[in-house]
Amino acid sequence: MLFSSPQGRGPSQPLSGHSARGEAGRSLNPCGLAQIGIIALLLALLLSATVIPSLARAPDSQQVVGAGECAECHKQETEIWKATHHYKTFSRLPRKKLATKIAKAMGFKRIKSGSICLTCHFTSKVKNKKVKPIAGISCESCHGPAKKWLKRHGEYSGKKKHTETPTQAKKRWADAEAAGMIRPRLTYALTKNCYSCHVVPEEKLVNQGGHPAGSPFEVVSWSQGEVRHNTWHNNAKENGEASTERKRMLYALGTAAELEAALHAMAKATTKDRYAVTMAKRAEIARLRMRRLARATRLPELIQIVDAAEGVHLTLKNEKKLTAAANKVAEIARKFSAKYKGSELAAIDRYIPDAKKYRGEVKAPKRK
Ligand code: HEC
Ligand code: HEC
Ligand code: HEC
Ligand code: HEC
Repeated sequence: MLFSSPQGRGPSQPLSGHSARGEAGRSLNPCGLAQIGIIALLLALLLSATVIPSLARAPDSQQVVGAGECAECHKQETEIWKATHHYKTFSRLPRKKLATKIAKAMGFKRIKSGSICLTCHFTSKVKNKKVKPIAGISCESCHGPAKKWLKRHGEYSGKKKHTETPTQAKKRWADAEAAGMIRPRLTYALTKNCYSCHVVPEEKLVNQGGHPAGSPFEVVSWSQGEVRHNTWHNNAKENGEASTERKRMLYALGTAAELEAALHAMAKATTKDRYAVTMAKRAEIARLRMRRLARATRLPELIQIVDAAEGVHLTLKNEKKLTAAANKVAEIARKFSAKYKGSELAAIDRYIPDAKKYRGEVKAPKRK
């Protein structure tokens, strides 16, 4: 299936004439859309209106401890976080005219209370039985809510750093992961989180509220700029870029995560409007990128992902099939994430965005 492309291109030719650079840039419209059958898609889109549940996930407010708890040990990472849009949205968002406009169009009087905005712009915590936003997008938005793993994670199994045995350390990490900690090594879970917010899988918010229909997000370029905080394992000597192998894994799994998120988003599309059109385009472009990676590497998992995603039509009222395809993509991607380290992926280097594309400024650690 993979190597018999409908355009009849040979496996050695790239799928699209556009460079990876263009794709990682601001526009979500990098491909010649006629090429990818958007017209057929538009004809196939149908009208309907159903109430849909929210897809994006803020960390469970019952399980959130707050960034202050992490800061006790992670001072550098916390300082770096404080310079990001993720941190600043907490105080800035409610003051933006556009935010008030979107909230009003959605029928919300207050942004920080009971609104859908809480699911992506804020971290909330239950205090005195009330859900209260306590920060913007925070440590636990990306590494998982910590109530059940915080103590175990930082305790060195009740010993000092150098007296904890490797077996005990291994058990400690396993316990933390079982309790919901998303460590960087769980690359798929980590990148999937980013896309669950940045694709903006909320039809009403986009069509009725006028909210942006997703960010021009790509995980390497968006994680290696202002978000980067690789300061722990080198004792705050530097805030170094991810290694070449790591970037390959992030890029390949980011593409899979984007595909999964866009298919899920499309599954919830009910009306032929800006939301459905944007999500369909996004899914189509992610499929093209995935296919390109599969061709370059010929790794069986990537080929399976392409096959799982290409069999399904990007149309309205196709929830069951789109959801099944998205789940299949995720299942294979998780296996890929656990199996490979990145050394097998040299063939995709030319697609990975370079430092000029990194989003925002990298912050240097403060000398201790
Ligand atoms: C009591 C101190 C302490 C607290 C509190 C703490 N950590 Fe850590 N954290 C550590 C230590 C120690 C390590 C490194 C452990 C090791 O290498 O065995 C670490 C490592 C990490 C890592 C890297 C994991 C990896 O795979 O290498 C992440 C991510 C992390 N912490 C996130 C958090 C978050 C998020 C919080 C708050 C919810 C938090 N930590 C709270 C002590 C702490
Ligand atoms: C599904 C996740 C999600 C939800 C829910 C959400 N947002 Fe956003 N919002 C985002 C993302 C991601 C961005 C960044 C978009 C970008 O990269 O340009 C954003 C950006 C914005 C911006 C800045 C736009 C700009 O161009 O400066 C405003 C204003 C905003 N959101 C308001 C709101 C309001 C108000 C609500 C609630 C009614 C809300 N958002 C709910 C994810 C979300
Ligand atoms: C936007 C998502 C996001 C937020 C917010 C976030 N992290 Fe991370 N964190 C990551 C990613 C992604 C990595 C892995 C980067 C990589 O592998 O290149 C990481 C890595 C880490 C590491 C390992 C660093 C190293 O040197 O190896 C620690 C420790 C950590 N985060 C702690 C925190 C703490 C504490 C906070 C809050 C102050 C936080 N993170 C906020 C996404 C996030
Ligand atoms: C819980 C939802 C959520 C998650 C998870 C999340 N983001 Fe974001 N991110 C947002 C929102 C909302 C904004 C816009 C904030 C604003 O400016 O008001 C944003 C903004 C950003 C920006 C700043 C963009 C700019 O305007 O320059 C970067 C970079 C970014 N995110 C990277 C990441 C990366 C990388 C990850 C995953 C490791 C991630 N985000 C995970 C919601 C999220």
